[in-house]
Amino acid sequence: MNTFNTNTNTLHRYIKFPFEMEMPKEFDQQFDDNKVIEIKSGSIDSRFDQWISQFDLNYATLLEGFYTAPLNKLPIHSDIVTKNTSRFTFSNITKLNFTWGSDHSTTRWWIPTDPQLVEKFQQDSKNPNMQLTPNVTDENDPPHVFLDENQCEMIFEKVINRPSILNVGQLHSTYNPANTPRWTLSVMLLKKDGTCVNFDEALQIFKDVIDE
Ligand SMILES: [Fe+2]
Repeated sequence: MNTFNTNTNTLHRYIKFPFEMEMPKEFDQQFDDNKVIEIKSGSIDSRFDQWISQFDLNYATLLEGFYTAPLNKLPIHSDIVTKNTSRFTFSNITKLNFTWGSDHSTTRWWIPTDPQLVEKFQQDSKNPNMQLTPNVTDENDPPHVFLDENQCEMIFEKVINRPSILNVGQLHSTYNPANTPRWTLSVMLLKKDGTCVNFDEALQIFKDVIDE
């Protein structure tokens, strides 16, 4: 594994949260396979809106519930890559996550072993094996990137057992080594102008409540 400087960690921070978030009722179920489900924003703990408003932030109305089945993994991916002219780079956008279930499950961050890999995606974006989805020509639907472990090197891993902010523009995956399921409520943070929050901005915004 790469050496990783936790003092300049731009991937993950735990957040001191003043109450225990109620688990969405949709998470009260177990499946054999991994899943992503949509959570209605009105169905989450009503105290959350008040808490987030003190930071002058909004959040995307589409909330996601990520289910990592027992003894399973969610694949390595970037939630959003940035398209700058015709080039793609991994972004640094931030989500606030709440996780229930396994106390030992982790999120892992990765870098491609081939630094030119993202460039190759756009050269070969019609090849389904490159797994750049959805259609890269659709400006309104930012592309996601999925990679295999054999294309990447892990640079950081953290047990996710309390609220935290995560850089989801960089390549990441989940790992659940337990016999119990892992459910994550994932909140895409937005500034008042509707744009996403970069991780360095999130470090400033949450500086008084960052735990470690
Ligand atoms: Fe993600």
